[in-house]
Amino acid sequence: MVAACTDTPVTVSTSSTMATTTTVPEMGRLVDHVTGLDGIAPEEWIQTEYGVYRPGDGSPGVFVTWFLPSAIGDEPVARVSEAFGDVTLTAAGRHDGGMGFDLYEFEASQGLSWGTDLVGRAGVAVRDDGAYVVVAALPGDVDPSDVPFEAALDALGTVGSAEAALGEPPDDALFLDAEASPAERAADLVSRMSLREKLGQMTLIEKESVDPAGVHAFALGGVLSGGGGSPDDNTPSGWADMVDGYQIGALATRLGIPALYGVDAVHGHGNLDGATLFPHNIALGAANDPDLVRRIGRATALETAATGIRWNFAPVLAVSGDIRWGRTYETFGSDPEIVATLGTAYIEGLQGGDLTSTDSVMATAKHFIGDGSTEWGSSTTADYEIDQGVAPDDDALLRDVLVPPYREAIAAGAGSVMVSFSSWGDTKMHGSDLITDLLKDELDFGGFVVSDWGGIDQVDTDYREAVVTSINAGIDMNMVPYDPVRFMWTLGEAVEAGEVGIDRIDDAVTRILTAKFEMGLFEQPMADRSLAPTIGSVEHRELAREAVAKSAVLLKNEGVFPIADDVRTVLVVGEAADDPGVQAGGWTITWQGRSGGITGATSILEALEARAPADTAVVYSRIGRLPADLEDFHADLCIGVVGEQPYAEGLGDDAALEVTGLGLLGNLDDRCGSTAMVLVTGRPVIITDYLDDWDALIAAWWFGSESSGLADVMYGEMPFTARLPVDWPRTIEDLPTSTDPLFPRGFGLGS
Ligand code: BGC
Ligand code: BGC
Repeated sequence: MVAACTDTPVTVSTSSTMATTTTVPEMGRLVDHVTGLDGIAPEEWIQTEYGVYRPGDGSPGVFVTWFLPSAIGDEPVARVSEAFGDVTLTAAGRHDGGMGFDLYEFEASQGLSWGTDLVGRAGVAVRDDGAYVVVAALPGDVDPSDVPFEAALDALGTVGSAEAALGEPPDDALFLDAEASPAERAADLVSRMSLREKLGQMTLIEKESVDPAGVHAFALGGVLSGGGGSPDDNTPSGWADMVDGYQIGALATRLGIPALYGVDAVHGHGNLDGATLFPHNIALGAANDPDLVRRIGRATALETAATGIRWNFAPVLAVSGDIRWGRTYETFGSDPEIVATLGTAYIEGLQGGDLTSTDSVMATAKHFIGDGSTEWGSSTTADYEIDQGVAPDDDALLRDVLVPPYREAIAAGAGSVMVSFSSWGDTKMHGSDLITDLLKDELDFGGFVVSDWGGIDQVDTDYREAVVTSINAGIDMNMVPYDPVRFMWTLGEAVEAGEVGIDRIDDAVTRILTAKFEMGLFEQPMADRSLAPTIGSVEHRELAREAVAKSAVLLKNEGVFPIADDVRTVLVVGEAADDPGVQAGGWTITWQGRSGGITGATSILEALEARAPADTAVVYSRIGRLPADLEDFHADLCIGVVGEQPYAEGLGDDAALEVTGLGLLGNLDDRCGSTAMVLVTGRPVIITDYLDDWDALIAAWWFGSESSGLADVMYGEMPFTARLPVDWPRTIEDLPTSTDPLFPRGFGLGS
């Protein structure tokens, strides 16, 4: 098969009503997938129809091609041509198998090239007589919505699938009986499923790569929002509409199996505009208050479930090792006992007392196992250094440090476990025996195992090999960023070739379906919108405020805190003082997080202004330089606020752990009665040379939306009680482990 472009992932929209814009569709693979899905070799059946449609106004044409089973005749061709309507067909052709050639011709004749001038759109229409793929290549300056692409897909029609022949299940099918046990229901349902339906259940696809019709066409098991994966209408109802939309697609399948929708609500429902943003786990590790974490889990469940989402990719159970890791802030710290206790409390809160309740959210213990223990420089992903790297194959580390949190999470009923991108020794975890031998057999985990984002693809350069190895290793559901069909097809072929046993498939599907039954999804699949008032509610913000106060670690205090009554003038310096985006950190609105305002959040400056006694002057200078009229301003107290710019995952791997602004207070010295530094970071940073400049120091972490909690401890409304959840290194050379930390784990002053 000639592929026009081979190295860019294609986003296939499987819809007759909507298509996804892609950058460069990988034509050859696209054909293979669709043919594979129907079990017919490309040579046998593919007929490529193509044409260039040139709008009457003389602007560059649209190259359109579609793939169909042979022996289908000209009728669909005529229908697609008709749908493209008021554009004129200037070139058309037809041949069997392959299309790269024609596309190149099109490029040449138009003077355009893929990826720069041309974008593609791809869609699949599934009918009883086969799958049709339509691909349109558009010049980059053509508005895709001007091209009647949907109409072309519509013209082909979506009329069910091969499973239709199996018929609808009878009304008295056991799996429909809410009184039967989840295990009985799952067994009955599995016995009624075709292989393709089973493969669908094992597929979790990112929402940008599928629409409700695609979930329907391929009977997919789940949909997720990746980091920042909000709907265009980023409101509670916008989310609920989106999730319910996918659910409608799932429910309309032959067996009506509801989809699971998952999201990373790792410090509150962080992608949702206006949600309560709780401190990240590193901060909760400093607070070390299981009851607090349980309540945060509960509140997060309510705000997440309010948008129709019943599955959270949290908590991270990694035990922090080398803090240069960009995910350090997602851990509860380096003490396995604290990780286990807080992880368990979070799971209990999130899942609630009754998993079938519409306000309960299934937890995901992640990432199994060894993230947090990987070695600097061992990562082979992008330009990551440590994230997705290699952890030493060290049995004591495994048994004594890393397993205990999983053991307790399983005892607490965690519904799912996500596999780590990292390697244990020389084996990628996605292909490791530890999934079955340790997690499922020894630890007796009865839920289902989900891959990380495209994690299976990393197991082997040969995709088929990667799929076979990972599924046999025990992965039950594959988180597929872009292309579900490729996975389903590959796994289906492997099953037919006996490379993956049907028992393994049935086990995976049984685990997934059991979770869905346990959650009561068949009975109540739609969003419980009555929960919407909990989103960003006063009650939840008060809880987050409490968490902020309880997690701020006082590292130095020479008579500054609590701020004395006679402090009448306060000078606040540093950009992070006025930046809710920074204080919220990564996984906030976007994957990486970003500097700037956040709906409903309060900046540190705002909180101090609100909390300071009425006769106190609070002056703010971003960079510590005052305007001429304040040249002589003397502050009883100067507060510096310095932060790390938000990051997520390997993009936060950091060789230096330096932040700018540490010198701000030193430069102000003679205008300050006393000085206090507040660090707003995801982990310790190197501060040793500056410590003497400050009379007081607070590690506030990336604490989320409620700065008032910080003002509470600074002004003595609440005591400082937090303790460092990790060692604070003296120098960067001390790492990966600090032999002589500046402040050891467990350190923290009271006030
Ligand atoms: C992360 C996971 C996350 C998933 C979905 C991955 O890259 O490693 O923690 O749950 O993406 O966003
Ligand atoms: C997604 C994240 C995901 C990451 C993995 C991003 O594009 O938004 O959810 O974790 O890719 O590389």
